[in-house]
Order: sequence, then structure tokens, then C-alpha cells
Amino acid sequence: MSRLESMRRRLSAQIDGLNWAANQIADIKGDVLELGLGNGRTFDHLRQQLPDRRIWVIDREMNAHPSCVPPRSDFLQGDAAEMLQQLARAGVRLALVHYELGIGVADHDTALSTKMSQHIAPLMAPGGLIISQDPMEGFDPIKGPDSVDAKRYLFYRA
Ligand SMILES: C[S@@+](CC[C@H](N)C(=O)[O-])C[C@H]1O[C@@H](n2cnc3c(N)ncnc32)[C@H](O)[C@@H]1O
Repeated sequence: MSRLESMRRRLSAQIDGLNWAANQIADIKGDVLELGLGNGRTFDHLRQQLPDRRIWVIDREMNAHPSCVPPRSDFLQGDAAEMLQQLARAGVRLALVHYELGIGVADHDTALSTKMSQHIAPLMAPGGLIISQDPMEGFDPIKGPDSVDAKRYLFYRA
């Protein structure tokens, strides 16, 4: 599979996974967290699918497309571990986390997602969902939508 084909699969999996998760959390109270703003594509999709939820966004850089810049009040710029602790101190409760801090290097990404899991856990509302390309620890793995290859995108319930 070419990298271009792989990218198409990843984008399809992200759209299907985010749409599925947005429906799953309908009865769960809490905010949403986009962990890794990057260009802002998945943030833009989340705010389209979940217009009534507050969407917190964490990234150490602001490189989003101008149309995808989050409101200043909802953007925490800095190291993710520190920003997650800041949210916890503010008493934020999350119904959904989309995790995408990885750089596509398996060892690096798994070490980072494992470390971040412990900072995400205290923020989660009971039954809240975490969806991620990298493995998380301390949450129950669940099956996502049928259209998404289980190895490509991972789904967890808190
Ligand atoms: C793959 S990009 C996110 C892509 C984004 N979801 C999108 O749809 O465009 C990963 C982002 O995570 C951020 N990042 C990586 N490690 C981080 C860390 N430890 N703390 C804060 N931000 C981090 C990078 O700056 C980068 O913008």
C-alpha cells in the first residue's frame, strides 16, 4: 500500500471514528478534548459534529489553518502533560477525548500515549470515550465502528 493510500485510509478511519464517537456520547455529560491541534482538521470536524459541546484544544504550537483556530478561551498552548493537569485543577470533565499527538514513529508514540493516559484518566466522565491512533492505558478497550480497521484506530471507554 502506498503512503498516499495509507493516508486515505487514515482519514476515512478518523471521520468514521469521530462520527461514531459523537453519537455514542449523546447521553454523557461533559466537554470534548482535542489533544493535538496540528492543522486543525480533526478539531474542525469535531466542532461540526458536536456544535453544543465545549471543545478544549491542547497543542504546544499554533499551526492551525486560519479557519480552524479554536477560541482563545478553549486553547491551552504548552506541553500536553502540564496542560492536562491544568484542566484537572479547573475541574473539567470530559465526555470525549480525541488523542493525536503521535508523529508516526511507533516506539516514540506508544511511550507518549502511555504517559498521557495517566493525565487523561482523572479528567474523564464515567463512560466517556477516548479515541486514538496510539495505545492508551487504564481504560477499557471497546469495539469502534465496523468500517474502521481495529488496528488503525483504537477506542476506549473510561
Ligand atoms: C499529528 S499532529 C495533530 C493533527 C491534528 N489532529 C489535525 O487533524 O490536523 C500532532 C500535534 O501534536 C502536537 N504535540 C505533540 N506532542 C506534544 C506534546 N507533548 N505536548 C503538546 N503538543 C504536542 C504537535 O505540536 C502537533 O501539532
